[in-house]
Amino acid sequence: MHFTVSDLVLDIVQNAAEAQSKIVTVTLEESDQEFRFTVQDDGKGMTSEELQKALDPFHSDGIKHPHRKVGLGLPFLVQTAEQCGGGWDIQSKKGQGTMVRAWFSLEHVDTPPLGDIPSLIRMVLLLPGPEDMVVRRNLTKAARNTCYEVRKTELQDVLGNLEEAGSQVLLDQYLHSLEEED
Ligand SMILES: Nc1ncnc2c1ncn2[C@@H]1O[C@H](COP(=O)(O)OP(=O)(O)OP(=O)(O)O)[C@@H](O)[C@H]1O
Ligand SMILES: [Mg+2]
Repeated sequence: MHFTVSDLVLDIVQNAAEAQSKIVTVTLEESDQEFRFTVQDDGKGMTSEELQKALDPFHSDGIKHPHRKVGLGLPFLVQTAEQCGGGWDIQSKKGQGTMVRAWFSLEHVDTPPLGDIPSLIRMVLLLPGPEDMVVRRNLTKAARNTCYEVRKTELQDVLGNLEEAGSQVLLDQYLHSLEEED
């Protein structure tokens, strides 16, 4: 099956967006050796028992999986990170929120391609649910060293409804321009 690290990130941001969060903050950091991401939400959170179940690939409520693209959410992230010379960390407090972090070695032969980061950011910004979505990007590569931040509410002020076709084209151009060389 072909999938990208971006697919894994989107899956985790979708969990955060589905967890009744008000603000979801996504950090995407990339050096020549490593890609790491953090998804922080202020949603419903999980007890340690709930987190344990969520991490168990053999436990499933079996109800909602029609849209599934890459696998089993959290267990799949954990498995992929561990197989790709990376790691993960999840902190959750019931009623307060959740933070999921994972990192991948970009020098490991099993690490999937990253995928198109501007497209990932666009899909993150369009996820329904949270009042605001903040995406921070930090590139520390030899060829490119930059950081930038985008906020859903600020983009909505400028572009209007992000779901409209016209806004999507502008959003896509804008996100690609942030990523490319100045
Ligand atoms: N950020 C989060 N906040 C609260 N609960 C979460 C969060 N992330 C995951 N969970 C809980 O863990 C469960 C398992 O997550 P997982 O992504 O593996 O599957 P899913 O979201 O139920 O299904 P799918 O990802 O296929 O739509 C979720 O149903 C939810 O109860
Ligand atoms: Mg999920």
